[in-house]
Amino acid sequence: MPERTADDVLLVHGGVPLQGEIALRGAKNLVPKAMVAALLGHEPSRLLNVPDIDDVHIVSRLLQLHGVSVTPGEEPGELVLDPASVVQANIADVDAHAGASRIPILFCGPLLHRLGHAFIPDLGGCRIGDRPIDFHLDVLRQFGAEVDKRPQGLYLSAPERLRGTKVDLPFPSVGATEQVLLTGVLAEGVTELRNAAIEPEIIDLIAVLQKMGAIITVHTDRVIRITGVDRLGGYRHRAMSDRLEAASWACAALATQGDVYVRGAEQKDMMTFLNVFRTVGGAFDVGDEGIRFWHPGGALRALPLETDVHPGFQTDWQQPLVVALTQATGLSILHETVYENRLGFTEALASMGATIQLYRECLGGTPCRFGQRNFLHSAVISGPTKLHAAELVIPDLRGGFSYLIAALSAQGTSVVHGIELINRGYEDFLGKLAGLGARVERVA
Ligand code: EPZ
Repeated sequence: MPERTADDVLLVHGGVPLQGEIALRGAKNLVPKAMVAALLGHEPSRLLNVPDIDDVHIVSRLLQLHGVSVTPGEEPGELVLDPASVVQANIADVDAHAGASRIPILFCGPLLHRLGHAFIPDLGGCRIGDRPIDFHLDVLRQFGAEVDKRPQGLYLSAPERLRGTKVDLPFPSVGATEQVLLTGVLAEGVTELRNAAIEPEIIDLIAVLQKMGAIITVHTDRVIRITGVDRLGGYRHRAMSDRLEAASWACAALATQGDVYVRGAEQKDMMTFLNVFRTVGGAFDVGDEGIRFWHPGGALRALPLETDVHPGFQTDWQQPLVVALTQATGLSILHETVYENRLGFTEALASMGATIQLYRECLGGTPCRFGQRNFLHSAVISGPTKLHAAELVIPDLRGGFSYLIAALSAQGTSVVHGIELINRGYEDFLGKLAGLGARVERVA
């Protein structure tokens, strides 16, 4: 049994198909970045469709520590961010947020532009790999920043105005691309970014920056060009809905043999997921306001699957889908190419009766960065196997949601520890579960 955390326990009575509707809010992987972008402006910004999740709360507090007023707007889920008086935050206060999230690294560019210096505490985020920040630091140095790594965190300074530069990322990193965008928009001259990430959340962030007055062009073959401007205003923006949460509920519908309408899900942001969902044997119907996902009956089909950067199969979709693949007939082969350590969660699924074997080899396709290195980043899932209840400790956000799906589709009552971790990225998931007819009980 993995080491227990001070936790929050949920009893999950399995075997009930999820039925009904849930509504999405803005994307967890866009909203906090759009909030940080407000720091770059000299006028207030309005962000709509903001989810009530921990990552948003953490960034709100960090912005307030830097003098940004963050207040609710008229509309539910609306935030007003006013950067009129940006100040250097008290380092101890910032440090208090160390380890809570990865977002603080994106404060670098905006704070260097506004204050000429910045302090970034140690970063957190899901334990799904080493998650280094070398690309970020290399990029910031290329813009002309001085980076001083100290035990308590990063001290950055910009003796002169940051200058546009040429960046060629070793891997199309989402975070490093956002770093270049949030720094390049106010840098002197032109920045050319090659091998950029082009996830829908990146394009939505570019839309936010363009509303503020930025000049950013997205070319084919992952090239983004930014022409620096001297001043940015505010924005009014409705955040794109969360395609990662949409896929999680779709997998829950499939694994529990249920039928869930996901209001706010957008086909254009999850085409690759929909193809895989149909190939496995799931059914979906795209409407004007959302997408309905259901299990049409009959056996699910095994398949070979490789995660990749957009427009490939998103790594954050694989953990929830794996639970459904334990119910598919045949051998599914999964090759995780984005994170070197994102298959540890399968151990708990095996304790529930799933048959999953992990491998260090790049199974199923393109050799990746982790091949021939000591990472268990491929899996063979043999199904169908009946899942039975177990005691589970949530390891990370998507692994946690996949445990909920497994417990909901298993026979018996599972005890799930550490559910508060799911609040980091899923708004009101307990309320949504109850609304879909799940039989769950919180244990104080
Ligand atoms: C973002 O993380 C998302 N998080 C992740 O979602 C998502 O899995 C990931 O992008 C990929 O799509 C947020 O947006 C908050 P990366 P990020 O930089 O930006 C390596 C979820 O569950 N790398 O694209 O941290 C890195 O180790 C989360 O919602 C370096 O080596 O991801 C990884 O192997 C989990 N050096 C790969 O690149 C660097 O400096 C992709 O990381 C930066 C990254």
